[in-house]
Parts: sequence; C-alpha cells; structure tokens
Amino acid sequence: MAAPERLVFISPSDPPGDWERAFRAAAPEIEFVVSRGEVEAPETIDWAVVWKPPPGALARLPNLKCVLSLGAGVDHILGDPSYPKGVPLSRVVDPYLTAGMSEYVVLHVLTHHRDLPRSLAHQAAGRWTPFAAPRADETRVGLMGLGELGLDAARKLKTFGYRLAGWSLGRKAEPGVESFAGPDELGAFLARTDILVCLLPLTAATRGILNARAFAQLPRGARIVNAARGGHLVEADLLAALDEGRIGGATLDVFEREPLPAMSPLWSHPKVIVTPHIAALTDARSTAGQMAESMARVRAGGRPLYEVDLRRGY
Ligand code: NAP
Ligand code: GLV
Repeated sequence: MAAPERLVFISPSDPPGDWERAFRAAAPEIEFVVSRGEVEAPETIDWAVVWKPPPGALARLPNLKCVLSLGAGVDHILGDPSYPKGVPLSRVVDPYLTAGMSEYVVLHVLTHHRDLPRSLAHQAAGRWTPFAAPRADETRVGLMGLGELGLDAARKLKTFGYRLAGWSLGRKAEPGVESFAGPDELGAFLARTDILVCLLPLTAATRGILNARAFAQLPRGARIVNAARGGHLVEADLLAALDEGRIGGATLDVFEREPLPAMSPLWSHPKVIVTPHIAALTDARSTAGQMAESMARVRAGGRPLYEVDLRRGY
C-alpha cells in the first residue's frame, strides 16, 4: 500500500487546530503535519500550506507538488529567493475573504468621507460642533488594484454614489468605474482621487508606491486607506505629508514591520487609524475545501486553482 500523502502547515500566526479540523473534513486521506521548526522526513512532504514560511523552508522539501498560500497575497512566500521555481503556487480567492475586505474598505471610505475622526475628537472634547460632509457624488474614490478584492469593493462602494476610478496594469471595463492603466496613467488617477484605497499585490513594481511623489499628486487633504501590504507605503513620507496637511488622514491595516513596533509614531498619530492586519482574514472551513480541490487537480496532472504567475509575482 502506498504511504499516505503528507501536508506540512507552516504559519507563525494561524491557529493550526482550526486548519487541521478543516483539512480532516476536506481531505481526510492526507496526513496533516504542523511545522515548528525543522520538518521531520522532509522528502515525504507532498503539500505545503503556508503563511510567512521561514526563508529556505520550502526549498528544503524536495518532493513538493504544490505550495498553497494561506493568504490572497503571496509576497510572504515569493520574497524568499530560494522559492523552488518549478513548484506551482496557489493563493486564496474566497468569497468570505472578499466580503471581509469589502466591509473594511466601505467602513473606512465612509469613515474618511464623513470624517468620523473629527466627530470623535469633538465628542472627546464635549463639543457640539456640526459640520457637513461633501456629497458622495462629489467625492472621488480611487482604488489601486482592481483585481478580486478591488473590483468587489468598487461594486459595493457604487451603492453610495461615489465617483469611482481604479488603477490596474490592464484596462478594465467595469460600468461606473473610470479605468486608469499602467504607470503612464498613475498621475492622472492620483490627481482625481480624494480617498485612495490600496489593494495592490506587493511586487517589485509596487513596493513603496505610496510615497511623497504620489502624495504630491493627490489633491491636498486626500485620505489614504492601505489594506494591501505595509511595503507599499513609505511610512516616513506619510508622516511628513500628514503633518504638513497634504494628506488629511489615513487608515492603515498593514505595516512594514508587523506587529507594529510600540515605538511607532503611527500608533498615536491623531490623523491615523491603525488596525492589526485584520481587513480580511482567511476562513479555514471555506478555504481548506478549495485547497483540497487544488491538490486533487495537481495529483491528476493539472494546475491548482488560483495559480500565481511566478514571473509577474501575483
Ligand atoms: P489580484 O486579484 O491579483 O489583483 C491585483 C490587482 O492589482 C489587479 O487589478 C492588477 O492589475 C493590479 N496590479 C498588479 N500590479 C500592478 C502594477 N504594477 N500596476 C498597476 N496595477 C497592478 O489580488 P487581490 O486578490 O485583489 O489582492 C490584492 C492584495 O490585497 C493581495 O496581494 C494582498 O497583498 C492584499 N490583501 C490584504 C489583506 C488584509 O487583510 N489586509 C487580505 C487579503 C489581501 P491587472 O488586473 O491588470 O492584472
Ligand atoms: C492577507 O493579508 C492576505 O494576503 O490574504
């Protein structure tokens, strides 16, 4: 009888118990191994389900058939130059994750449009100071990235009547969303954006894209919502732009260093809302099933679901 297939689970933050239960239901024939450092008998591992695997960890598994990211983003895997290039990589595309991200984006776009921080500051001071928000149809929201997450967020934002635009690599044809494409159109996209939402993958082309140059192209007082990756934002440039009034406020879910260090000035900045990388979490019950489907496809000689283009990096 052939030895059972083995799956190694590597994550410093996801609860392995939830995933073990989900895989027991979705793929009971596969042995679930939690890595807490070195993997025992690495040559027997067929599948790796990972979030931020230590550099070199995947390269030490010589018989891997597929790597499955525990997140939608894969920079946490492809940042390792020793990633075994011949092994297919699959990412999460899941309705619960997409819905979670759209909830977060709608919540924070409304927060900035209606200037909730200003109301909270008035409340803290015991001041009754009415103020008017701009009309939604005169408020320009711009989404950087119109992929799985950006497109769903745009569709949900439409119901509020915002003037919407998206920036992506290729041109999009989504009704009610003005499409800007490629580096040549970034400036025009920024110039028409009052509330900028970043939902880009982190790649060599997008690292540091939220920088002083970009902030200078936005209308004065524009707001930023970064729910993508900390590496997109040059934090020092944001702090300078906030203090100078060029940027009016920001919501940040992701940071160059996570957890955000206690000393970071972002924690207490009056114009910044900090959340701890919770915009959209991966649902184990929903996602283990699609990962099992990917494994079945690869076992049968095919490609996994939601395969990442390793050359493009997303
Ligand atoms: P996706 O479906 O791959 O979409 C990526 C979008 O970005 C596409 O529209 C793509 O353009 C565009 N893009 C990529 N590189 C570009 C470039 N150089 N210039 C302009 N546009 C570019 O990804 P997704 O599923 O929407 O996820 C986006 C990111 O969200 C993930 O990579 C991850 O980092 C982040 N995320 C964060 C959380 C959280 O909790 N904070 C949760 C989930 C995901 P094309 O359509 O033309 O290819
Ligand atoms: C979370 O950050 C993800 O990439 O899914």
